[in-house]
Amino acid sequence: ADRHVEIIPEIDVPGHSLALLTAYPELGTTGGPFQVNPGSQFFNVIENTVDPSNPKTYDMLDKILKEVASLFPSPYIHIGGDEATKKFWKEDENIQDFMKTNKIKNETELQSYFIKRMESILHKYDKKLIGWDEILEGGLAESATVMSWRGKSGGIEAAKKGRQVIMSPAPEYYLDVLQGDPSIEPATYSMSRLSDTYHYDSTLPAELDQSLLLGLQGNLWTEEVPNQRHAQYMTWPRAFAISEAAWSSGEKDWDEFVERVEVHFK
Ligand code: ACM
Repeated sequence: ADRHVEIIPEIDVPGHSLALLTAYPELGTTGGPFQVNPGSQFFNVIENTVDPSNPKTYDMLDKILKEVASLFPSPYIHIGGDEATKKFWKEDENIQDFMKTNKIKNETELQSYFIKRMESILHKYDKKLIGWDEILEGGLAESATVMSWRGKSGGIEAAKKGRQVIMSPAPEYYLDVLQGDPSIEPATYSMSRLSDTYHYDSTLPAELDQSLLLGLQGNLWTEEVPNQRHAQYMTWPRAFAISEAAWSSGEKDWDEFVERVEVHFK
């Protein structure tokens, strides 16, 4: 707070929940066994989604979010919502019965139902919800702020609905992807050179209400970042480019930017 930094925690549900399922296998649909994923393939392969038909899931997330809400002064909590496979929900009889009982037409709507329940838990603790752009699918929770990672399209769609937006597009704002020469750097799943990150146009189309764009975010996921030194290496200088896009008038001058970046090399 002294440095005007506001920390917003993310508890990613209903997908990306393997750590929770490993500790509490009863919150999944298959019963496990589960094992925390060190960063290998997961989507549609490993069950990593919580069971949205199980009341215990909501009891647990209420406890977690209550505790997190009390620890972080920010008015926002990020509840994830990204990359939640529907495979295990489709295959589970209890979940299919739950959907029929609650008149939920498909698994996408079920995810939306789940996110709306997260929204009401957060409201109890005076917090506002942020979620990745998948929360648009199946119906957006009423007060949600959308963080756009699959390009800008989710952010634009949300702004068209009058919702707040944060742009965090992959791969340009993904600090875990390669930025240097692939022949001399550890391989990653994608790439964004400094010039790609710098030149990315992260603005909303002019006809939309510009005040809905709360800001920009760079993501340093750390599955392929083994230590602090490498974290620093991946963050800079691309974070300069993102910061400048967020905090300046938006005019770009690559040659002049590079000169200013090089001052920081020493
Ligand atoms: C994401 O990278 N799954 C938000």
